[in-house]
Amino acid sequence: MTSRSVKHKPVPEIPFTGCVGTELLFATRWNGVTMRAMSRTPDSPPLRPLGRTEIEISAIGLGCWQFSGGQGLIGSFWGAVPEATVNAIVKASLDGGINWFDTAEAYGRGRSEEALARALVASGRGPGEVVVATKWWPTMRRAESIRATIDERLRFLAPYPIDLHQVHQPYALATVAAQMNAMADLVEAGKIRAVGVSNFSAKRMRAAHAALAARGLPLASNQMLYSLLDRRIENSGVLDAAKELGITIIAYSPLAQGILSGKFHSDPSLVASSGMRRFRRDFRAAALARSRPLIDELARIAAAHNATTAQVALAWTIQFHGPAIVAIPGATKERHVADNVGAMHLALTGEELRSLDALSRQFA
Ligand SMILES: NC(=O)c1ccc[n+]([C@@H]2O[C@H](COP(=O)([O-])OP(=O)(O)OC[C@H]3O[C@@H](n4cnc5c(N)ncnc54)[C@H](OP(=O)(O)O)[C@@H]3O)[C@@H](O)[C@H]2O)c1
Repeated sequence: MTSRSVKHKPVPEIPFTGCVGTELLFATRWNGVTMRAMSRTPDSPPLRPLGRTEIEISAIGLGCWQFSGGQGLIGSFWGAVPEATVNAIVKASLDGGINWFDTAEAYGRGRSEEALARALVASGRGPGEVVVATKWWPTMRRAESIRATIDERLRFLAPYPIDLHQVHQPYALATVAAQMNAMADLVEAGKIRAVGVSNFSAKRMRAAHAALAARGLPLASNQMLYSLLDRRIENSGVLDAAKELGITIIAYSPLAQGILSGKFHSDPSLVASSGMRRFRRDFRAAALARSRPLIDELARIAAAHNATTAQVALAWTIQFHGPAIVAIPGATKERHVADNVGAMHLALTGEELRSLDALSRQFA
């Protein structure tokens, strides 16, 4: 611990096991914003702790890369989604019990953040009624840029505060400790509530955890590529270290960018109109042939539950390792949200979890 005064409440070292149950009241206060009851009902899916913070999140959040307006180097990966569709996706997510949203500076240079804030306002949810996560883009930047860009993040997301601020990639012109110290300064200044990283190896994640611990703060999360088609975090040490340290893994691309819905297997002609995805290896005919047995099993299990293939894939992702992994599927259509919400209510049997595990081992 440094001698600096830490203004936020010390985080208890709670054991990282089990869901916390449906919370009807989420009452705390930070940064001048009273956290109000989050419109949860007894039917709402249970919330989980975000790492060892006081923040509670649904097992599925909404990924907002798709709301970049087709702009910027990163954001142009997806075509522009009309504002009315963005608003409908966000509202349907909230109505279905999804209580948090993941965006980033790099998603259309703030356009995704702005679109998310507009949609949240349109939904009628106020500040403190939703959890918002964003990210700082580190390429060719020093740690000072974390402090220099935070007011822009807050402006784009206004009136919503930033609950979780993440370092997007491990490529900054700064040490991990310098980046975490800059993030800790933002927590102490009341500009963000918790700190996360993304695409960090186990070694870097441990370094981030240690640097924040020296400031009396937990590392809340590491956002990583993870799905039935990419299980590398299970072998790289990232998942084991996250479980050991109580860091939540936020699984991005949990549908393998749509492949795990089975639509590209059912209709391979869709690949040609899938935008930049058509250049990815997973979308090639040979790769789709390799993943077909897994898709067939997802479809078989889905039929048994009167569910969809995408729902089963997401349910596996948030159940197989217990509460250690949450997922943030992206959506371009309102109907995708029904799958995301449905996944939180779908309990797979042990046999189903193991059968999908066995068929997807080759992708570890
Ligand atoms: N930290 C990082 O480095 C990083 C990297 C990537 C993503 N992310 C985050 O993770 C989020 C999700 O990842 P992602 O967008 O790469 O992949 P994803 O969630 O696996 O796939 C999203 C895409 O799949 C299709 N889809 C979604 N739901 C569907 C459904 N129910 N049925 C059929 N198709 C469906 C949609 O595209 P179409 O409708 O166009 O087919 C959608 O845009 C992003 O929004 C972003 O917030 C973070």
